[in-house]
Amino acid sequence: MAKTWSDRFDQGLNPFIQKFNASINFDIELFEEDIDGSIAHVNMLAKMLVISSSEAREIETALKEIRIEFSNGTFKIHPDDEDIHFAVERRLIEKIGTLGKKLHTGRSRNDQVATDLRLWLRKKIDLIENNLEELQKALFLQAENNLYTLIPGYTHLQRAQPLSLAHHLLAYIEMLQRDRDRLIDVKKRLNISPLGSAALAGTNVPLDRYFTAKALDFIDISTNSIDAVSDRDYVVEFAAAASLIMVHLSRLSEEVILWSSEEFSFVKLTDRCATGSSLMPQKKNPDVPELIRGKAGRVFGHLQALLTMIKGLPLAYNKDFQEDKEALFDTVLTVSTSLKAMTILFEEGLVFSTKSLSLAVTSDFSNATDVADYLAMKGVPFREAYQLVGALVKECLEKGVLLKDLSLNEWKDFHPSVCDDIYKKLSPEQVVASRNSQGGTGFTRVNEQLIKWREKFQK
Ligand code: ARG
Repeated sequence: MAKTWSDRFDQGLNPFIQKFNASINFDIELFEEDIDGSIAHVNMLAKMLVISSSEAREIETALKEIRIEFSNGTFKIHPDDEDIHFAVERRLIEKIGTLGKKLHTGRSRNDQVATDLRLWLRKKIDLIENNLEELQKALFLQAENNLYTLIPGYTHLQRAQPLSLAHHLLAYIEMLQRDRDRLIDVKKRLNISPLGSAALAGTNVPLDRYFTAKALDFIDISTNSIDAVSDRDYVVEFAAAASLIMVHLSRLSEEVILWSSEEFSFVKLTDRCATGSSLMPQKKNPDVPELIRGKAGRVFGHLQALLTMIKGLPLAYNKDFQEDKEALFDTVLTVSTSLKAMTILFEEGLVFSTKSLSLAVTSDFSNATDVADYLAMKGVPFREAYQLVGALVKECLEKGVLLKDLSLNEWKDFHPSVCDDIYKKLSPEQVVASRNSQGGTGFTRVNEQLIKWREKFQK
């Protein structure tokens, strides 16, 4: 039986403890990065004349063969493989014998796992950033088609003021952009090589840390070996950024769920992304946004788990760190698949019901602010105008009429400065068009934003 530990150990592990201790079932996810890191390390050892270049070549070739075994599914996990690092080394020794035992010179699993995890997360950040952009584009296409579609705008979930639907969708594009920027920022701090820090103190083996850093495309090397092997800040930072992505997706999900209800009827779900009920034949359920909203919880949970796992750890490496992986892997998978599902939902899963939307914006008092603004522009102090319009709305509610239903005489009774141009001001199109402050919902402003985003996406 192959022996993992040094001759200090006489007995093998209790079989239950062996399984309990192992991470191979999940850290096999890191096989690509583990091979990459080992190839860089071995070439560096040759450059530093720690091993010969023919030895390095032989090890590299074998590592590349092992990579192929992993990707075509022929790699067999051995019961003694505690983790991916041991598994690769064990297989290397099986393949090339004693020479394989030179691979781990000047290296520890502590700097190895830190390297692998950074390499893995760096790739995944690129993937998620791309997922974010795809969702932005799907939202953008809907926005572009709906500049002049109006939707009630809400505060406190009470009708407030009508909006351009494009403006509403662009709000999510902004959020997703901040999400992208945050990931780029995380990547800057993550993209530093810990390789060569060894167990915690560095090593007396002559290493060229810049060589491995360059080979692995890191932008720099870490400067404190103790910190390098015990730093998981980047995992937490990523989980926090991922949590905010899920917050944004969950808010958007909640809106789609509301909009698709009969009460709102602002969107119709297509058959592509909705499901039926096993009992009630009339039903069409918004499972996709509901699932995304639900999945937000597990990502927040992973963030909490990571923070708690790290907070009491003395320097440097502690086995607790092994617990970072499942949380991180599931965070990546959940965020990436949720983004993709939301993208499909906006590409082909819903259709805005322009009829219901236009009915909604013409049948309420969301133009009341505009009457107050109208009076204010005629010289009435705004606070006074606000009070007057409040009373007028109350009167209309009692009579069961809308502001646009009032006759000119009634308007004159309300306030002598009102003329018949008031009717134009009351139409929802005008209400929206007039909000031309920077960042506002006025069509010209929203169109400027559409142009800006179109240029960005075309780059
Ligand atoms: N499987 C371990 C982890 O994920 C690798 C590092 C183990 N290092 C050690 N000194 N036991 O953290």
